[in-house]
Amino acid sequence: MPVIRRRPWALPNSAATPEAVFLDRRRLLAGGAVLAAGAFLPTAAPAQRIGDVPDPSAGLYPARRNPAYALDRPVTDEAVNLNYNNFYEFGPSKSIARAAQALKTRPWTVAIDGMVEAPFEIGIDDLLKRVTLEERLYRHRCVEAWSMAIPWTGFPMAALVALAKPLGSAKYVRMETFKDPTVAPGQRQVWYPWPYVEGLTIAEATNELAFLVTGAYGKPVAKQMGAPLRLAVPWKYGFKSIKSIVRFTFTDQRPRSYWEALQASEYGFWANVNPQVPHPRWSQASERVLGTDERRPTLLFNGYGDQVAHLYQGLDGERLWA
Ligand code: MTE
Repeated sequence: MPVIRRRPWALPNSAATPEAVFLDRRRLLAGGAVLAAGAFLPTAAPAQRIGDVPDPSAGLYPARRNPAYALDRPVTDEAVNLNYNNFYEFGPSKSIARAAQALKTRPWTVAIDGMVEAPFEIGIDDLLKRVTLEERLYRHRCVEAWSMAIPWTGFPMAALVALAKPLGSAKYVRMETFKDPTVAPGQRQVWYPWPYVEGLTIAEATNELAFLVTGAYGKPVAKQMGAPLRLAVPWKYGFKSIKSIVRFTFTDQRPRSYWEALQASEYGFWANVNPQVPHPRWSQASERVLGTDERRPTLLFNGYGDQVAHLYQGLDGERLWA
């Protein structure tokens, strides 16, 4: 009899429709237990403080909402979002909120290098002075077939690309998460290709939808959601939206992302949302809307085709969808 061993890093099929987890969480919410559990699980972003000091960026929130980015569904309850996260640096479960509080988000330096006029490093608070923050309501669709709707605050990634001044020969932006196994226990698991890496083409990175997130729910973004700087590319599966970024490298080589390095047959570079192209182990036709009883049909490009479909014309030989 064949013995099928799941490799330690592989997403279980159950992650695709995490019914037990989902139902347990619903029971928890229905019973008000999330609030009761507040003593040990964060139910709100740590009130604009970083450890023992006030968050120096707290005064920037809430930012003006940009009405161009509206939703077709209610915003996901903040408590749901704060307690259901993928952040493998802090463990493979969805319940990493408490572990993620170990992340120190100040000082936080972001490096900009590779094929740029002049590489430089910039502290997150100096970066915040160089951009204008706005709030956008975005859908967020995980490859595991669940979704949320989130009020992100941040700035267009195009503004960072403009600051970086890439050379004309650069074709991609490679992004990298911090690496510090002393605070992130998941990074002590040597079979994962740390640090977490993601990439976009320059055309994708400068598309109006590509958004660098510094806040959510009207305050600095919570650690478990990727503080102090993460990406939101809502037309792609959620794994493209890299958290806690420390480096942007401009390059002419297509970056090999974290999930691609783990399992290229299941997670590719483009990873655009398409309900008609199943994941090799589950359907992508519909999604569980976290925090509700609802299962909705998934939309092509997660509903953002008007803004992004043109980016993929003429790329017929590419595996654009997973
Ligand atoms: N970024 C890093 N550094 N580490 C991760 O494990 N998980 C990705 C993405 N960015 C991940 C990451 C995945 S699989 C998803 S679905 C989203 O973050 C989840 O974001 P959320 O927890 O804010 O919903």
